[in-house]
Amino acid sequence: MSLNLNRRNLLVTGGAVATMASVSGTAFAQNTPAASTAATPADTSGVPNNEKRINIVTLRDLEAEAKKVMAPFGYAYVSGGAGDEWTMRENLAAFNRWVINADFMNGTGAGDTTTTLLGSKISYPAITAPVGNQGSVHAKADEPNVKGTGAAGTLFCASSVSQLSLEEIAAASDGPKWFQLYIPSDRGFARELLQRAKAAGYKAIVVTADVDVTSNRERSMRLQGAALPNLKMGNAPKTPGGKGSAMDMKGNMSWSDIEFCRQESGLPVIIKSILSPTQALQALRYGCSAVWLSNHGGRQLDNSPSAMTTLPRVAAAVKGRMPIIVDGGILRGQDVFRALALGASAVALGRPTLYGSALGGALGVQAVHSHLKTELNMVMRLAGTPNIKSITRDFVARAEGEAG
Ligand SMILES: Cc1cc2nc3c(=O)[nH]c(=O)nc-3n(C[C@H](O)[C@H](O)[C@H](O)COP(=O)(O)O)c2cc1C
Repeated sequence: MSLNLNRRNLLVTGGAVATMASVSGTAFAQNTPAASTAATPADTSGVPNNEKRINIVTLRDLEAEAKKVMAPFGYAYVSGGAGDEWTMRENLAAFNRWVINADFMNGTGAGDTTTTLLGSKISYPAITAPVGNQGSVHAKADEPNVKGTGAAGTLFCASSVSQLSLEEIAAASDGPKWFQLYIPSDRGFARELLQRAKAAGYKAIVVTADVDVTSNRERSMRLQGAALPNLKMGNAPKTPGGKGSAMDMKGNMSWSDIEFCRQESGLPVIIKSILSPTQALQALRYGCSAVWLSNHGGRQLDNSPSAMTTLPRVAAAVKGRMPIIVDGGILRGQDVFRALALGASAVALGRPTLYGSALGGALGVQAVHSHLKTELNMVMRLAGTPNIKSITRDFVARAEGEAG
């Protein structure tokens, strides 16, 4: 079985659909605008449509619970990583190389988790990461996630390969939102999306850089033959005569694309996928307003490092000149705390919000964020840090031998 890595079916961050299509040797019809408008109705049978309160003891339990209600295609798509999934496991392992050293007896009381991220006030320093193809997770696609995130008082980042249009997502919640863009290869369509994002009220553009090709997501490839929902793409050109598709992405991105995005949207631009101090400094030089350290949840380049491993060096290079966002494997209040202590301004959650959506819709997503916020608050109380600003480098140390 060989991977057919051609441009047309490699363009989806969702990868599962594309990869499965490529493995079976069939063209992935959605990758062309003509095919996408003429698409057969989505077969979303088996995709949950839950809207209910869920009880969470720990976010660590969610994947196993969600697996029971998700369609096999949706579960493989969400839970899997690339290749050997080393990076996906490393994202979890990297946190436990750091211990938290509490400052007892310092007279601090109740914790305040609120913070501000690029001008948006949020209830705690964790936001919802962009995720494409949420129609494989919940029958209402992106809607539960944006609503639940807003209800929890934090920021939602919409993916450009969503099932709902960017305007529908914007209208679903009053909470702060960013728009993540896979820059389309058609410049006109790229311009249109950037202008529409600004008009719809998004507060920043997040450019994701690590999907030149979709990787080998083998859990999905093994499901060859399972029923695939034919998910429609929400973001198609609206300009009369407009060409392009959200999944037809520019494969040769460079730093000049950042300037294009800034000019066309008039919004701050954040680059996502950075994993080195050198690249973070380039991001500063090319006018990015923030840098988002991410390996795409271990779904793209396997054996790339975790954001947590690179964070201390990136923070030392950036020296507070722009916010740093970190994602990958965040499941605990302790994880948020350790990322902040090492220099992050906020973290982002991918899979946990999807499992929350599958299990409980908007209420499920809200519960995920509320639970993590409560846990962070507990960690802050136990560590002796009354507010987000007080979580500094002094509170963490390398696990080996320094905890004493
Ligand atoms: C199912 C799925 C789809 C994703 N789609 C996108 C996407 O459309 N755009 C993007 O920038 N990142 C995408 N990501 C990566 C997330 O934004 C985020 O970097 C990652 O999920 C964080 O790791 P975590 O899932 O361990 O929290 C996706 C991740 C998952 C799990």
